[in-house]
Amino acid sequence: MMKNYRHKAAEATDFLITHIQAPPQIGLITGTGLGQSAASMDISASFDYKDIPHFPLSTVKSHLGRLVFGDMCGKQIMAMQGRIHLYEGYSPLEVSFPIRVMQELGVKTVIISNAAGGLNSKFRAGDIMIILDHINLTGSNPLIGPNEDDWGIRFPDMSRPYDQDLMELAETIGKEKGIALQKGVYAGLKGPSLETPAEVRYLRIIGADAVGFSTVQEVIAAVHARIRVLGMSIITNTHDPDHPASATVEEVLAVANEAAPRLEAVIKDVVNRI
Ligand code: HPA
Repeated sequence: MMKNYRHKAAEATDFLITHIQAPPQIGLITGTGLGQSAASMDISASFDYKDIPHFPLSTVKSHLGRLVFGDMCGKQIMAMQGRIHLYEGYSPLEVSFPIRVMQELGVKTVIISNAAGGLNSKFRAGDIMIILDHINLTGSNPLIGPNEDDWGIRFPDMSRPYDQDLMELAETIGKEKGIALQKGVYAGLKGPSLETPAEVRYLRIIGADAVGFSTVQEVIAAVHARIRVLGMSIITNTHDPDHPASATVEEVLAVANEAAPRLEAVIKDVVNRI
């Protein structure tokens, strides 16, 4: 019999449980150039994705492909170093598989970060944005197919996909630490080709402040799983449809690396105060 994703997630979970010291409370998913977000934690176990049953492999060069467990500020953390994207050819179920493993392990909060292109003309490269809401333009959804009732309900409410308390906590921490934080709406596309000037105009019109190729599948699965979500984007490049400029992966990585310590400082204090 073909295993469904709930069986697969259960097998991955069983494997991990036998190898970790304590179940994680908080999940971290880091994006492009942000794989070191877990560096400041006391790592107790580490797994290459390829060694975890059914775990999808990250094919993107800048993503490490490692799942680490450990202690950060006295909290048990499970951190994905490198994520899975639709543009790699993975299905929405595969992209959201790590969230299901988090759910099975009892994770209650997930902090998701990504690199994104800025659409809001007030944004500058290097800005960090708290994700207030998203627009799923991927044409995909991780809940398509028979509903797994043990995971969540058929039609999950999406009126507050990002947790209000966590957003306020991040904002407070930003102010305390003197780290400027923007706020905005993230548009999730499938990629991997970047946006045309006409697409940038369209995304602005529909209310998006930033654009990227990740996050929305994971957030939908997390909401379905009743895991609360904090999302943050590093604006690695900005889009001006009237003066189109090319963005390179090198640039995106350089800006993400420069901003990563500021994002890590915010994430760490959020974890501390959850
Ligand atoms: N578009 C999509 N994804 C991105 C971008 C962008 O401009 N920058 C970083 N990730």
